[in-house]
Formats: sequence, C-alpha cells, structure tokens
Amino acid sequence: MQIFGVDIGGSGIKGAPVDLDRGDLAQERHKVLTPQPATPDKVADCVAEAVGHFGWSGPVGVTFPGVVTDGITRTAANVDRSWVDTDARALLSERLGLPVTVLNDADAAGLAEMTFGAGRDRKGTVIMLTFGTGIGSAVFTDGRLVANTEMGHLELHGHEAEKHASTKVKDEKGLNWHQWAHRVQMYLAHVEMLFSPELFIIGGGVSRKADKFLPLIEGIRAETVPAELRNNAGIVGAAMAAAGR
Ligand code: BGC
Repeated sequence: MQIFGVDIGGSGIKGAPVDLDRGDLAQERHKVLTPQPATPDKVADCVAEAVGHFGWSGPVGVTFPGVVTDGITRTAANVDRSWVDTDARALLSERLGLPVTVLNDADAAGLAEMTFGAGRDRKGTVIMLTFGTGIGSAVFTDGRLVANTEMGHLELHGHEAEKHASTKVKDEKGLNWHQWAHRVQMYLAHVEMLFSPELFIIGGGVSRKADKFLPLIEGIRAETVPAELRNNAGIVGAAMAAAGR
C-alpha cells in the first residue's frame, strides 16, 4: 500500500509516496525550499507543490516541527509564530482537496524507526531524539507512542537543551565533535535520569555521521544507536500516521 508523506523542515519541505510494506519511499522525493517567513499559508502552497509534483490523490501525512494536537499546531519554536493554534489539518486538507493527517516531526520519525529501523521489535521505553535546528523527541513504551513530549525544551545548564546541544548550535558556535558530543552526553544523562530508557535512537541529518560522535559519548546506561532511516524517517512516519499505523 502507498500513502503520501510530507516532512516540513526549517530549510526544506520534502514529499514522496511511501511504500508502507517496505517502509521506504516508492519514488525519489521532491523538495521545495521552505519559504521565509514560513507562514501557514506559504507553507501550504509548498506542500501542495510537493504533492502536486506526483499527481497524487489519496491520503497525505504531514509532519510539523512543533506540538500538534488533533490537527492543530500548538507551538512554533523554529517556524513562524502564526502557526500557534492554526488548524493545520483543515488548512492543508482544503488546499490539497485530500484527507490530511498532521503530527509532530520527531513523533513521525520515531514511528518509522520503531517499525522499520533501529527500534524494530524493541520493548520497554525507547526514546528517539532528533538533532537538527531544534531537538525533537519521541517516547515509546512497548512500541506505543506518547506524543508531543518536547524534550528539546528541557532545561540544561540554565538553557533550553536545544539552545545548547542542537546541531544548529554546533554549527553556529563552531563546536568540534568532542565539544558537541560532550553537550549531547550531558543531555542524554539528563533524559536518562528522568526516563531510564532501554534504548536511545539518535536521529536527524547528523545521524549519518554517528561514527564521529557516538563513540565519544560515555557513561550512558541505555544502548545508544543511530537512526537507520536517516533523512526519510519523517516522510515514512507521516505516511504511516495517515494510514493509522
Ligand atoms: C520543537 C519540536 C520539534 C523539534 C525538532 C523543537 O523546537 O519544539 O516540536 O520536534 O524542534 O524539529
């Protein structure tokens, strides 16, 4: 079965039909640059372009980099403030003329990893953390998602964690792998103190370079592994959510 998935990110809006049996893209994804400012209206145009590129008609799953409850976007840490309390599901389904499901980006990535990636068949508490412009989180207990956990905003050394340990901060401050890994280690230790997970899955674009920083992280009891679906986890998870999986 195929469903369309769209991942709304700070720099790009990416979409592709997803093969839900394989947990992979059925066609090469199409990327549209995220408009600045990334207002709901302008982003909706880009989502329509990404979906229209494939001539898709059918259900569409869309990720959003903030809290989403029942199709309504509630926070907007890294996109335009006007998303707060927007009925994103209504906006997008009207624009596309198709049924739309909207969920948090890290939750989507986590769903994909739990079924097709590093979290397959894992019981107990599993926490996926995505490192990018912000830090996203997805918490699973025996494979079931607890949505909208927002652990990127936990306080760490007097800052929001994502203002201290995201890859955006690594780039902006020119931190080397050791310096950044130290920050990630402090953050993982804090999350571990609160949740005692069996497994941490480290996602986001930086997971491609896991060999550069994961070996530098010490003292974490939970097994800590890179995500396996890399950049496509959000698109795959969005499609899974739209299929009710
Ligand atoms: C947002 C989260 C999102 C994460 C990654 C954070 O700033 O609050 O909802 O999952 O960034 O995009």
